[in-house]
Amino acid sequence: MSKRVAIITGGGDCPGLNAVIRAAVTVGVRRHGFEVLGVEDALMGLVDLGYRRPYGNRWLKPADVRGILGTGGTILGTSNRSDPFRYVVKQPDGTVKETDRSDRVMENFRNLRLGALISIGGDGSMRISQRFMAKGMPIVGVPKTIDNDLGATDVTFGFDTAVQTATEALDRVRDTAFSHDRVMLVEVMGRDAGHIALHAGIAGGADAILIPEIPYRVEPIADMIRRKTNDGQTHAVIVVSEGAKPHGGDASVLERKPGEMPRLVGAAHRVGEALQPLIENDLRVTVLGHLQRGGSPTSRDRVLATRFGRAAANLVAEEAYGMMVALRAGEVVAVPIEDAVVAPKLVDPAGEIVATAREMGVLFGDEG
Ligand code: F6P
Repeated sequence: MSKRVAIITGGGDCPGLNAVIRAAVTVGVRRHGFEVLGVEDALMGLVDLGYRRPYGNRWLKPADVRGILGTGGTILGTSNRSDPFRYVVKQPDGTVKETDRSDRVMENFRNLRLGALISIGGDGSMRISQRFMAKGMPIVGVPKTIDNDLGATDVTFGFDTAVQTATEALDRVRDTAFSHDRVMLVEVMGRDAGHIALHAGIAGGADAILIPEIPYRVEPIADMIRRKTNDGQTHAVIVVSEGAKPHGGDASVLERKPGEMPRLVGAAHRVGEALQPLIENDLRVTVLGHLQRGGSPTSRDRVLATRFGRAAANLVAEEAYGMMVALRAGEVVAVPIEDAVVAPKLVDPAGEIVATAREMGVLFGDEG
């Protein structure tokens, strides 16, 4: 009897998810003869087999994944509020309560005669996968996130596309900054990691890059703007990571809800408010937000996602459960899922990429 394999996309979406699904289904069905069940909205489709937002679970054949290689989003839908161990249920009085629905997921998994799960997700999804493995579910992981903050892999797919989107935005913003002699702050995603800000900032020729790993003060930035203005550069472009922290302060958090990551909002506006009184230039803020999560994946992300999807199907065939595909020194390898969640992969403030930016005259706000 052929093996039945479920596939999910969990957490925030990112460009390249469809390319992974396409590769896993193609290799899983063609090479290994699997039957592949696409589960709707992360594990929601296994918490409730009748779940339909909008399609519900469905068996995927190679023909069903045709034409999705270059598309953004995920054909399976996703959710970052669907941890079955902390399932949020709305109460009649409007409050919410967390309940554990993991046993129901296990029951549905067995009833569907599923033999394995391919879980495509970030650190949150990998942690949930670990808990289901402890309950006996055979899982193979595929790392995804635009933030590129997952340990054990050199890079996640989606990151390159997000950096490309942010770089194009910086190029556009620079044009109008120049025309109006303005200081433009551009806020990018990344949560606690500054990889998107750092890479896009270097690629987009930013004058300053503020990242969570290097707490900033606005005074050195203001000095730099005044100095550049005196030297004839009357505009500046500054990249602000959404998790950037002022010296001695915290990230700018909008709200905290049960079962969800805190929402980071307002980092660039906060920098702008502190910086504007110190400079003469007019200042504007642009928040890129979810623009960085959508769109067609770059060719680099399509290739990486395809390699990961193929490798995940092959790991299931080898029954190498508890492993996650990863990129190490250019090679796709398998690493224990637990290695991916030990600690987030952050920007090294003493590393070569930060040093490159500094030597190119980019400020990080920690200058004496
Ligand atoms: O982790 C990916 C990410 O895009 C972060 O960069 C960002 O902080 C967060 O997700 C946004 O999440 P949501 O889509 O729930 O607002």
